[in-house]
Amino acid sequence: MHSEPLHAERPGHPGGPGPERPDPATHDPASHPSGAPTSGACPFHNDQRESRSGKQKTLVLTGASRGIGHATGKLFSDAGWRIITCSRQPFADDRCPWATGMENHVAVELADHRALPRALDELKEKLGGGPLHALINNAAISPKSEAGERLTSLNTPVGTWMSVFHVNLLAPVVLAQGLFDELRAGQGSIVNVTSIVGSRVHPFAGSAYATSKAALTCLTREMAHDYAPFGIRVNAIAPGEIKTDILSPETEAMLAPTIPMRRIGTPEEVAKVMFFLCSDAASYVTGEEIHINGGQRV
Ligand SMILES: NC(=O)c1ccc[n+]([C@@H]2O[C@H](COP(=O)([O-])OP(=O)(O)OC[C@H]3O[C@@H](n4cnc5c(N)ncnc54)[C@H](OP(=O)(O)O)[C@@H]3O)[C@@H](O)[C@H]2O)c1
Repeated sequence: MHSEPLHAERPGHPGGPGPERPDPATHDPASHPSGAPTSGACPFHNDQRESRSGKQKTLVLTGASRGIGHATGKLFSDAGWRIITCSRQPFADDRCPWATGMENHVAVELADHRALPRALDELKEKLGGGPLHALINNAAISPKSEAGERLTSLNTPVGTWMSVFHVNLLAPVVLAQGLFDELRAGQGSIVNVTSIVGSRVHPFAGSAYATSKAALTCLTREMAHDYAPFGIRVNAIAPGEIKTDILSPETEAMLAPTIPMRRIGTPEEVAKVMFFLCSDAASYVTGEEIHINGGQRV
């Protein structure tokens, strides 16, 4: 038996709150004394039930306006979660399938690191000192040449490298750092959205995008190590080819026949894995990257 504290103090935060147990107001009472949940209930229905009894969980989700992020917001909302979104465009209320979308949106250009402190202030204000149960770093950019071609390590402009790394890598670090106290209070889960292109050259995805995703995989490991003592889990999901606007028009026709499952994936299939990672069903999973690609890597 070891006797290390379960929840360490945050380094560099003198005077901050000391080691904490999960907030009894939000924590499942059916839990092991160690803090581990023991409930075998379906997490989706459990969260729905808890939400109806006033214990709603909260998710901060980047890039929810379309694609994988939109499907993710919808799934978590169906499970009773409150969703706070961040992306460049103002919220399109007519397209939002979950309630209170408009007032729970922060418009921010994640490529501009100077805009992030203001976005964090707005997020914290919306959280109102309450706990945060999940942060999903989903927004990303994958620029092409003006002719729509893949940008390689030979021809990617410096400005493009910078903006890709700002959105795809730096924003996840800054958001997680900035929301640390709320994530600790919620014993939260962070999910970074990486990609199959982080581990192999892809016919359409460019070099800056691929290297930013490889770095995000590495960052997930580093963060998992650093955040675990505070009760915060950090994992990644790596989609293969998923039917969204980010894909090149030729992707489906060209690549689907090469995928063992003979089709590309849907945003909903990715959202379900993220829900698992943010649920009690994954309470002992951290530092992992789950691949969602119909067998594309086998
Ligand atoms: N689809 C795939 O096949 C695939 C494969 C591997 C990995 N992924 C990853 O999955 C994630 C979601 O991809 P997706 O296909 O759903 O993408 P998508 O359809 O292009 O949507 C991207 C989202 O990110 C937001 N966004 C983009 N640039 C932003 C910026 N500079 N600042 C703030 N928000 C920004 C967009 O909203 P606004 O336009 O309003 O800003 C949008 O909501 C990404 O991390 C992507 O790399 C996708």
